Formats: sequence, C-alpha cells, structure tokens
Amino acid sequence: MKKKINIAIDGHSACGKSTVARMLASSLGYLYIDSGAMYRAVALFALEQGLAKEKSIDAPGLVARLHEIDVLLKRNTDGSICTFLNGEDVEESIRTMRVSSVVSPVSAIPEVRTKLVELQRAMGKEKGVVMDGRDIGTVVFPSAELKVFLTANIAERGRRRWVELESKGVHMTMNEVVQNLSDRDLIDSTRKVSPLRQSEDAILVDNSSMDALQTYQYIKKMAKVLKGEDSETGA
Ligand code: CDP
Repeated sequence: MKKKINIAIDGHSACGKSTVARMLASSLGYLYIDSGAMYRAVALFALEQGLAKEKSIDAPGLVARLHEIDVLLKRNTDGSICTFLNGEDVEESIRTMRVSSVVSPVSAIPEVRTKLVELQRAMGKEKGVVMDGRDIGTVVFPSAELKVFLTANIAERGRRRWVELESKGVHMTMNEVVQNLSDRDLIDSTRKVSPLRQSEDAILVDNSSMDALQTYQYIKKMAKVLKGEDSETGA
C-alpha cells in the first residue's frame, strides 16, 4: 500500500523550490503549500497598513495587529493555488518587488512565525503535503519523511528570477534582482528565530545546472523510494 508522506523543500531564494514542489505535489496527488506566500501576504498587510516602509518595519505595531490578518491558500479548479489576504485574492500583488523588499524583515518577527507555523502544521497533519520554504524541515515538519535542501549559485538564481519577473512585465536590472536575493538570503539565514539552514537529515540538491524538470525527476525518485513504491512501476 502506498503510504502518504510529507515532503519539505527548503532552500535559498529563487532556486525553483515552488516550481519543483508544485510539480511533485501534482504528480503524487498531494497538496502543495507555498509557505513563502503566507509570509508575503503578511508583508503586504504591513505595507498596506503603513507598518512597513522600505526596510523599516514597525514590528510592535504589526504584532499588535496580527489578529486582524487572515491568510488562506485556496486551490483553484485547475489545481493551482491562490493566496487570499482577508478575503482578497493577492496572488499577484505578493510577488512584487515592493513585497520582496520587506518580506524578510517581516518574517524575522517571532510572533509572525508562530502564527504562520501553526497554520502550516495544521495543513500537514493528515500527511500528503509538499511544502516549500526556509524552516519546513527544521521547524514546521521536523519529522517529514523527505527533506530536501535546494540551492543554486546566485548568478543562476538571479537569472531565473529576472526571467520570471520579465514574463510578468516587471522590468528590473539583473543587479537589482540579485541584490534583493542576496539581501534576503542574508536576513533569512542570520535571523534569531528559525533561520534558513539545512536540516541534518535533508538531502542537499544544487540545481545550478539542472532545469526544473530534471530537479523534479531527481526528487521524485527519492519520494517514490520513501513511499515504498518501486521506482519503475510506482505512480
Ligand atoms: O520565491 P522566493 O524564493 O523568492 O521566496 P518565498 O519562498 O516566496 O519566500 C519569501 C520570504 O518569506 C523569504 O525570503 C523568507 O524571508 C520568508 N519565508 C520564511 O521566513 N519562512 C518560510 N518558511 C518561507 C518563507
């Protein structure tokens, strides 16, 4: 019998975690959860309410208003996921550079993490979840059956994010994109609470020279073994 497992994919910004996690979830019939979207939604709330400007965050002000924030991930009929902030579809607005420039300091606030980790754990309770983020294997699901730490060199990550932004009509220089990724990597990996780090039992995958399909196939093989399926015949 095929057993359901939880899969944690952590790693640096823009190394393709969400693309690969989405592909895995869809092929396994699992639920995909983009934990970064949840942090981005809180960052958007902070911006909209004047609690975040550039890189300065009014942390006590945001913490005092956390109870006003309702973040929901809804599955569309085509299987894609949409992020809702207080009932409003914010899937596009959370991907802007404005949000990217404040999301890491917002995510470093312990109370923000406590709130979102609780929601994330509830979603993974029944297993059958692929979740990507920074602390999934270390904090959210420390007993996830498969943990992957995905990374790629900064030039390649910058290139991928630049292409993605261009395709959405967002024009930025490569330098600006790379700067934002390295700023976020630094804040994410040096913050006090749940810093980005490879869990001891996570498998390190550097996909600098793999495309999304190759990365997905590589991780899927490991998932099949852990689900107790033969890699030739399993679904
Ligand atoms: O897609 P990208 O790699 O740019 O980032 P993301 O997954 O959307 O996450 C945006 C930000 O949210 C990260 O830079 C972290 O600051 C924060 N985050 C976090 O702290 N913990 C998570 N589990 C997921 C995201």
